[in-house]
Amino acid sequence: MPQDESFERRVAEQHRLLDGMFAEVLEAVCAGAEASARARAAFARLREALEVHFDQEERLHYPAVGALSPGRADAVAAIVRAHDGFRAQLAEIHASLASARRDEAERRLRALIEEFVAHEAAEEGLLASLDREIAAGSSAARSSSARLRARFSRSRYDRRHTPSPGR
Ligand SMILES: [Fe+2]
Ligand SMILES: [Fe+2]
Repeated sequence: MPQDESFERRVAEQHRLLDGMFAEVLEAVCAGAEASARARAAFARLREALEVHFDQEERLHYPAVGALSPGRADAVAAIVRAHDGFRAQLAEIHASLASARRDEAERRLRALIEEFVAHEAAEEGLLASLDREIAAGSSAARSSSARLRARFSRSRYDRRHTPSPGR
């Protein structure tokens, strides 16, 4: 299958942008009190991009995975549950930054990064295995996945909400 038709590639591209935004926030948080406004601004951009990413996965990507591969329903449900945990962690980091508790913000941010990197790897592994299954599968499965991918590429989420660093 061409690379640009891969489910895994679409999600992984967004993950790499998010990784860069996490690094930017961590650098600003670690830079100390004089960088606190920059840290809050970088964190606000990251949080918004993550909300869009979670929403896109929950509304578009994982319903498509569930339609193509009902056997992956449990794995998808666990991934979506994890998003709510990340939303709660983001709210806590926001509170730490808003009240200038820098050490606490750094500790919470490092914990979130560690969990989020594992989450990204789990998602990319799941989608890569689906890509391989489609590539090896029946022509019926391939044509239904092509229809779902065409729906992705036309979606307003892809056009409007792909996270971009350094806005
Ligand atoms: Fe996710
Ligand atoms: Fe993701």
